[in-house]
This record gives sequence, structure tokens and C-alpha cells, in this order.
Amino acid sequence: MAATLLKVSGLRVAYGGIQAVKGVSFEVHEGELVSLIGANGAGKTTTLKAVTGLQPVAAGDIEFLGKPIKGQGPWDLVKQGLVMVPEGRGTFTRMSITENLQMGAFVRNDKEIDADIEKVFAIFPRLKERRNQLAGTMSGGEQQMLAMGRALMARPKVLLLDEPSMGLSPIMVDKIFEVVADIHGRGTTVLLVEQNASRALQLANRGYVMESGEVTMDGDAKALLDDPKVRAAYLGE
Ligand SMILES: Nc1ncnc2c1ncn2[C@@H]1O[C@H](COP(=O)(O)OP(=O)(O)OP(=O)(O)O)[C@@H](O)[C@H]1O
Ligand SMILES: [Mg+2]
Repeated sequence: MAATLLKVSGLRVAYGGIQAVKGVSFEVHEGELVSLIGANGAGKTTTLKAVTGLQPVAAGDIEFLGKPIKGQGPWDLVKQGLVMVPEGRGTFTRMSITENLQMGAFVRNDKEIDADIEKVFAIFPRLKERRNQLAGTMSGGEQQMLAMGRALMARPKVLLLDEPSMGLSPIMVDKIFEVVADIHGRGTTVLLVEQNASRALQLANRGYVMESGEVTMDGDAKALLDDPKVRAAYLGE
């Protein structure tokens, strides 16, 4: 069996007195694309923030590459290869495409950064065409591509994507899911958080369904896609 890269057990996260994540457990194995789906407010973003050190953990354990990482800050985790593309993208709007990509490599000091920028341009030809353009002048879909490209510059061992298709036109949504499949196909392990359950499960090996701060179903992605409860709740049937 493939190595377990990320293992979250009994994770609890609270905002003040409000329990947003109530004992969530999941795993991501090497080479997998795992989708975490659920409605607005289910606790998906909160889970990712806790895993990446952006939100304090109230209880539970997080292991990355076989070691406990709870309490470590985002910088240290990115350096180890746990890299998130946040909800809303967070590109540096007043920097060019190329500068944004260079920022993604801030945790590295090797000599392959320029070569990796070329690799990112191979995945996203649109970014190459616009390499000197300011990020803030690009469309939402292009900024999502840039945010993913920037994350790849950190050489992720697990890439966490928080709702990459949110707010995009149908054509751009297609494009973004194609790119996620491409990144996975090139060998990156991916945890994909999405409200677009159908598309996310079609791409995934396995899936988890979150409701009100808890994982209520998990399993093979195709089995989840065929599950009548998933179809009724998330696929509008
Ligand atoms: N900064 C915050 N302060 C207080 N409560 C918060 C904060 N961020 C999120 N919450 C609450 O925590 C719960 C989980 O929110 P979260 O953003 O994790 O959900 P989500 O599954 O990512 O939803 P969406 O699909 O809309 O992005 C919600 O009830 C939300 O209102
Ligand atoms: Mg969210």
C-alpha cells in the first residue's frame, strides 16, 4: 500500500465557543487525489487551516510524512512540503506572474527555481504568455492558475486546494478541473476541497463528506458518486 503522507485524527477546531470541526479524521496516501466535499459552513476550510498551521488545533493529532506536526507554523510546514492554495487564491496582485511564482519558492534556496518556473509554464501556457503582467489585472480563473502555479513552486508533497473552482465561469471551471487532474497526473498528491461534489469525486481516488464539522461518509470516490445519499444531498437528485 502507498505511504500515508497526511493523517488527521480526531481533529477539533473552535472559534471562541463555537465548535467548527468536531473530531475529523482522514488520510491522504502518496499518489492519491482525495476529495473533501461538503456544503457551505461544513468546516472544510477550517480543517485545512488547522492542518496547515493557520488555525489553532483544540484537540486531535496531525501527522505529515509520519511525524507529528501539530503546533508547527505555516512556514515550517510549507518547507516540509505541505502547501495550500487558499480559498480566494491570495495572489500578490501588485506583482507580476513571474514574481508571484518566485514568491512560491521562498522556502527554497536551490538552483532549480528558474527551471521549475518553466515547468509551471508548461502546465499553464496562459501564465507564460502573461509572465510580465500584474497578477491583479488577470481574470479569476487565471489568478487561480497562478495560485496553483505558485504552490507548485514550493515542491509540495501534498497539495491542498481549497475550492479552486469557486466563482469561476463554466468554461474556466472545466479548465481548472483539467489542470487539477494534470497536476495529479504528473505525480503530485492532492487533497481537493470542493462544493462541486460531482466534479471533485469524478477526479478523485477517494472522498470524504463533511457535514456540520464532522465526516459523515468516506470511501472510494466512484462509490460515493453512486451513493443515493450523496446524490440526494450534493448532486441535486
Ligand atoms: N474566523 C471565524 N470566526 C468565527 N467563525 C468562523 C470563522 N471562520 C469560519 N467560521 C465558522 O466555522 C464554520 C465552518 O466554516 P468553514 O469556513 O470552515 O466552512 P467551509 O466548509 O469551508 O464552507 P464554504 O464551503 O462556504 O467555504 C462555519 O459555521 C463558519 O461560520
Ligand atoms: Mg471554505
